[in-house]
Amino acid sequence: MKTLDQVDVSGKRVFLRVDFNVPLDKKDGTVADDTRIRAILPSLRKVLDGGGRAVLASHLGRPKGKVVPELSLAPVARHLSGLLGMDVPLAPDCVGETVQKMADQLAPGRVLLLENLRFHEAETRNDPEFSRQLADLADVYVNDAFAVSHRAHASVHGITNYVKECAAGYQLAKEIETFQQAMVNPQRPLAVVIGGAKVSTKIGVLENLIPKVDLLVIGGAMANTFLKAQGKSVGASLVEDEFVDTAKALLDQARRRGVRVLLPTDVTVAPALDAGDRARQVPVDQVPSDGAIFDVGEETSSLIRRALEPCATVVWNGPLGAFETPPFQRATFDLARFLGRSKAFTVVGGGDSASAVAKAGVSDQVGYISTGGGAFLEMLEGKVLPGIAALEKCGQES
Ligand code: 3PG
Repeated sequence: MKTLDQVDVSGKRVFLRVDFNVPLDKKDGTVADDTRIRAILPSLRKVLDGGGRAVLASHLGRPKGKVVPELSLAPVARHLSGLLGMDVPLAPDCVGETVQKMADQLAPGRVLLLENLRFHEAETRNDPEFSRQLADLADVYVNDAFAVSHRAHASVHGITNYVKECAAGYQLAKEIETFQQAMVNPQRPLAVVIGGAKVSTKIGVLENLIPKVDLLVIGGAMANTFLKAQGKSVGASLVEDEFVDTAKALLDQARRRGVRVLLPTDVTVAPALDAGDRARQVPVDQVPSDGAIFDVGEETSSLIRRALEPCATVVWNGPLGAFETPPFQRATFDLARFLGRSKAFTVVGGGDSASAVAKAGVSDQVGYISTGGGAFLEMLEGKVLPGIAALEKCGQES
């Protein structure tokens, strides 16, 4: 796959697909977290310094083909202008005559941001005509939007059929390289920590991981289903009864392959999420019938850290507890801080885990934080992301 370094951008219109799907402040609508904007600055600077003309395109939210003013990319244009110290105009749309003119007349070294791609339903439908219209805005297509590369959408997938030249931006290339280093050719022992609420959303991930890892740590509410599969009573905890058999089968599979699976041995229970003042720690076989599990217990938390200590690679996706509601943040924050101190190659993926790492104040200390949520999960599931496949194909044809 070609990367931006292999492209001569001088004088060319470079369509840079980015992921500016960022949280906006509820009160004033400004950008609340600009991690995803900063992530593409190296690619953008490369284009501008090389005399290229940068046409940036992104989605924001899920407007479902309607123009939703609250989902305009205007706040992002303003924020980016501030970061670059240069005016970044926002086009009134992402296709059409006016936009075409704006892209054609863009001067070298300047940036144009297109309006939200998903204001057109054709974007998510991967519509060929819409893909062609987007392609008409560019001489070169660069995908630097890892976080949306699991979507076969027009600006991620279809467009590559109509452009002369395609390349991966630095952020996308870094995500792929990090994933290879952590999951494909890892330094061993390799541990993966999987948490979050539901087993049902992570079955594919667990199935794909079991043959690859040396240690699998399962936490979060999804662990409840595994505890139930082991015959434990989980009281009033969130549990997916229809997946208890699947959990059993996954544990059997791990046992057959000699993979160590670490499940909670103690848990923090409370009558409800908002009754943290009545939280207490109990062994997993003593969960009261009216108590719900909201975090793994202290013993489990230290067992996890001890098990991870000798690992050379640790990948983490999904919180160990309801970390947004004190006191149920403890195990998740302890894990984040442990990964911050660890000498292992540590990779964190998924919005919740990335936010936990930030809240624990260790974002600068972990090895790598993926910008992807769903895209990172699909990589863990062993899937080939459509956006990446399209870039590879485009490279072979040119
Ligand atoms: C994300 O935030 O995970 C990406 O921007 C993809 O957004 P989507 O789930 O709405 O496609």
